[in-house]
Amino acid sequence: MSKFRERVFSGVQPTGGVHIGNYLGAIKRFVAMQETHECIYCVVDLHAITIWLDPRELEAGIRMITAAFIAAGINPKSHIVFNQSQVAEHAELAWVFNCVARMGWLNRMTQFKEKAGKDRENASVGLFAYPNLMAADILAYRATHVPVGEDQKQHLELARDIAQKFNTDFAERIAALGYGEAFFPLPEPLIQGPATRVMSLRDGTKKMSKSDASDYSRINLTDDAETVAQKIRKAKTDPEPLPTEVAGLEARPEADNLVGMFAALDDVTKAEVLKEFGGGQFSRFKAALADLAVAKLGPIRAEMQRLQNDTAYLDGVLAEGSHRARALARPTMDAIKDIVGLVRQRS
Ligand code: TYM
Repeated sequence: MSKFRERVFSGVQPTGGVHIGNYLGAIKRFVAMQETHECIYCVVDLHAITIWLDPRELEAGIRMITAAFIAAGINPKSHIVFNQSQVAEHAELAWVFNCVARMGWLNRMTQFKEKAGKDRENASVGLFAYPNLMAADILAYRATHVPVGEDQKQHLELARDIAQKFNTDFAERIAALGYGEAFFPLPEPLIQGPATRVMSLRDGTKKMSKSDASDYSRINLTDDAETVAQKIRKAKTDPEPLPTEVAGLEARPEADNLVGMFAALDDVTKAEVLKEFGGGQFSRFKAALADLAVAKLGPIRAEMQRLQNDTAYLDGVLAEGSHRARALARPTMDAIKDIVGLVRQRS
């Protein structure tokens, strides 16, 4: 048994909309975890500014993700929903972690390489240090479980390395101040379900992404029913009928992706989907997938729209959530200051 109480933390960036990959890989699973855990869900706006973003788009994006969280079923009264920049402890702890993490560790981050592209010299320092801020998000609450999509795995491993190094570097001090053997838990990534990596609808070997130039590559939570159905109809497939067994999806990335999306939307396994559609043509399966996607996403879209028209309500949720988040993060940050030896005011 760990001495740390189980606590869930996760975040979504308020950049460029929100797609079915974010929903199935993360947000839908955030909703489910509310049943069993104390959860903290964060709109990570400080992460969003690591790449230039129009301020008006950022404001709208923060409210959009907040609306998506609530419309999908996150309850901001029983759990915490807030935006990162309103809790200064995230940035404060990130600085400490900038001094714990090693250049070599960050140099290995594949997401930085992808996002910075060829022009690394011109990438912001924030983009490089991004994973340290992510570790701070999680560890400011000493969170133990982090539901994310597959693409965040490496960042979560780094967060564990940072927690471990902090615990080791300051072991004596941690023990002397009465925190026992470890101050931070090693947060566990929860990468589960049939849609941990939803792929582009245009190319089954590429991750579905907010930044893909083609809007036909993704289904946005803001797409209307006709658009969702059309995108699924046009999704790339291969000429073979669907396989009857899951093993038959290997080396068929587009088929695998659509079957995974169906399974995740319907809360069943890929095997169950293939039991129904295996051996059949894509046309019938795609029609069923479109109906299912519209049935599941339609109500979320409608509720998002309603909420986005009520900015006073959304801003109130974020203010209240930030207040509650800060009440948890501040004592942790004070303890960290004591451990590191940063003299602070005492009330
Ligand atoms: P972000 O905003 O890119 O994505 C939010 C969540 O959606 C998941 N995701 C996907 N899942 C399946 N298929 C896809 N195609 C897909 N695309 C995105 C992501 O894995 C993520 O769970 N660095 C994070 C945000 C973050 C964070 C944190 C997460 C900041 N601090 C602390 C957890 C804990 C990010 O950029 O996610």
